[in-house]
This record gives sequence, structure tokens and C-alpha cells, in this order.
Amino acid sequence: MLKKFKEWLIGEVPNGSSAVVANKRLAERVELSESQLLIAEKHLLQVLVASHEHVQDMLTIQAKCYNGKTPWNAAALQHELKRNTRAFYILLKHETLPVAFIGAWLVEGEAHITNVAVIPDYQGMGIATWLIHELERLSILEQMKVLSLEVRISNEKAKRLYRKLGFVDGQIKRGYYSSNLEDALEMSKPLVRVEQVDAT
Ligand SMILES: CC(C)(COP(=O)(O)OP(=O)(O)OC[C@H]1O[C@@H](n2cnc3c(N)ncnc32)[C@H](O)[C@@H]1OP(=O)(O)O)[C@@H](O)C(=O)NCCC(=O)NCCS
Repeated sequence: MLKKFKEWLIGEVPNGSSAVVANKRLAERVELSESQLLIAEKHLLQVLVASHEHVQDMLTIQAKCYNGKTPWNAAALQHELKRNTRAFYILLKHETLPVAFIGAWLVEGEAHITNVAVIPDYQGMGIATWLIHELERLSILEQMKVLSLEVRISNEKAKRLYRKLGFVDGQIKRGYYSSNLEDALEMSKPLVRVEQVDAT
């Protein structure tokens, strides 16, 4: 996916081709199904399409999820939110507390999840499940054919969740993660429009 995405970036026509103008609208044109989400019958979360103003929120979530580390640092997130016309990120907040986010790149029929993270106190309540379903819905509206991701081979919790949501195991990418050269497992899920299901 990264290779495909780089090829797309290189192929971008500067200054005003209609294709590029259309591409710029992804984060602006996605329409969320909810602006608020009630979780575990007690937490009313705000649902937002993230902008560059939310970089600190996303760093805070990552630090809580990855033992103080931020796999996507401030510069990378700024780039994603300001310049990447094919990316969008959904952020959930509980009042002022940043709780969770999911990000994806939509390129050539493939919606690729870049990261999904839910802070520990809010895990196991269905938040990642909701985020992935919402991303799936928006990806289908954007004519994507497949949802994909990479996950650390040791991340049993995430792999179990993805399989439960219909993802299937793909190839193993050896030494994919630069921090410790851990292998990644590719996982994917075909996206099917409701009318396609009805037609079969
Ligand atoms: C992996 C991660 C995103 C999952 O987020 P989550 O919000 O806890 O996920 P969910 O609550 O939707 O699902 C987790 C489990 O709770 C269950 N669940 C879903 N809704 C539930 C509900 N209403 N009540 C209780 N349990 C529920 C799910 O079935 C799932 O069960 P399983 O553990 O048997 O698979 C989260 O653990 C996380 O952020 N981890 C650290 C970062 C990370 O590893 N990200 C993935 C990178 S690829």
C-alpha cells in the first residue's frame, strides 16, 4: 500500500488539475454517521473528523496506548492532516479527554488503516469496533473495494478483533517495524455494497 501511495503522490499534478482538486476534499467531504456516540451506556463521546488542530490529542492517545511512545509523531501527523489529500482521521473525545482515533488512506480502491488506538480506560467497550465499521461505511461510499491494514505479529488482541470483524490474514512482512524489526501481518477485508449482496 505504501508503494502504491508513493506512486500516487509522485503522479500528482501540481496547481489545479480537476482530479487533484477533487482529491483535496476527502477529509472535508466525508460525512460521519453520528456527531455523538454513547458507549457502554454511560460515556457520551464527541465524534470528529480530525484536523491539524487535533495533533496533540492524537499524540496523547498514542502515548497512553504505546507506553509513552508515539509511532506517528507530531510532524507525521501534521503532514497527514494538512497535506495528505487522500487521508482522513476520525477522533473521539469524552468532553476534553481524547479517547480514540482511526486513520486511513484511500488510494486506488484500497482503504488502508494507518492506525487505530483507544486509550486503556476505554478499551473493551466497542469503540474500535465502531470506528472500523464507520471507516468501512465511508470507504464503501468512496467506492473502495478493500479495507487493509498491517498489525504487529505479537498484537493478539488487535488481530482477534480484526478477525472478528471479518478481516482475513494475508502475507507476513518480515522486520516491518523499524523500532524492533518485528514482523507485520497484513490483513484485509473485501468491501461489499449492500446492493451487491442483494444482487447475488
Ligand atoms: C486494539 C484496540 C484498538 C482495540 O480497541 P477496543 O476499543 O478495546 O476494541 P473493542 O472494544 O471494539 O473490541 C475489543 C473487545 O471488546 C469486545 N467488545 C466490543 N464491544 C463490547 C462491549 N460493548 N462491551 C464489552 N466488550 C465489547 C470485542 O468483541 C472485543 O473482544 P475480543 O477482545 O474478544 O476480540 C485497543 O486495544 C488499542 O488501542 N490497543 C493499543 C493500540 C493498538 O494496538 N492498536 C492496533 C494497531 S494495529
